[in-house]
Amino acid sequence: MEKLAAHCEVRLHEGPLPPTREALLRGVVGCTGILSLLSDRIDAEVMDAAGPQLKVISNFAVGYNNIDVMAARQRGIAVGNTPDVLTDATADIAVALALAVARRMKEAAHDARNGKWMTWEPLGWIGHDLHGKTVGIVGMGRIGTATAKRLHGGWQMSVLYTSRRAKPEVDRQLDAQLVTLDKLLEQADIVSLHVPLTEQTRHLIGANELELMKPSAILVNTSRGEIIDQEALTEALREKQIFGAGLDVTTPEPLPADHPLYDLPNCIILPHIGSATQRARNAMAERAAENILAGIEGKPLPWPVD
Ligand code: DGY
Repeated sequence: MEKLAAHCEVRLHEGPLPPTREALLRGVVGCTGILSLLSDRIDAEVMDAAGPQLKVISNFAVGYNNIDVMAARQRGIAVGNTPDVLTDATADIAVALALAVARRMKEAAHDARNGKWMTWEPLGWIGHDLHGKTVGIVGMGRIGTATAKRLHGGWQMSVLYTSRRAKPEVDRQLDAQLVTLDKLLEQADIVSLHVPLTEQTRHLIGANELELMKPSAILVNTSRGEIIDQEALTEALREKQIFGAGLDVTTPEPLPADHPLYDLPNCIILPHIGSATQRARNAMAERAAENILAGIEGKPLPWPVD
């Protein structure tokens, strides 16, 4: 805010919740730049409501599925995001979820709190080791690679991955192997999702894919909720078709408090906190502001979307 206010007039949507559609359409009228959150749908209607002077849309996130990039391109509006600075924070959450599910932390903490911790039980709350197992990274981009590095370096896990392109550097560093999604699902003990949400990746993991996974496998999602068919996942977890799931993202967000996934002991749900560290969020704010300022001045954005 300080950075922007020093250079331009700033119109701020106040309050803890996203603007309603009406408030958004009203609020952008006459703006040269829009700084959006991932909860704001910025489509052609919003761009046209803003007016022909709109030069830049800067998303306070690395993911930008909330923005109609094609519509922006057609109108000559630059679109920016905040890559790199949240990679470590998000990879940490992916690993934390994998560990928490593997070691049944939700059940164990709940039982401790609710008087079910009677003694040290030789057979109580038995989970799975991660050490020496196999991680399957679906989408070996920045966050996927950072997650794989943690699990390979820290837990000596073998790494399988899917990617649009081969990653010789990653293959060499992590002894990783590019495989098909089916092979990854069949062989991985942890399946961690890191693809952006597009028409091609929506419901990439559905009933058929969950069926391919081992009964002992864990699914981790720190990308976007819509990558998973959540109904199919709920069923698979209920039937113990897979061991568990750790979700930092859901459909919708927030996931309603009465959603059945919350009641499953083998499912941990976080409120989309992948990038929620002081360092990451401050750096995201800096990048989002710098993108806006560059766009308003008609300069190339420092962090344009692909
Ligand atoms: C992003 O930047 O896309 C993340 O989902 C925010 O945590």
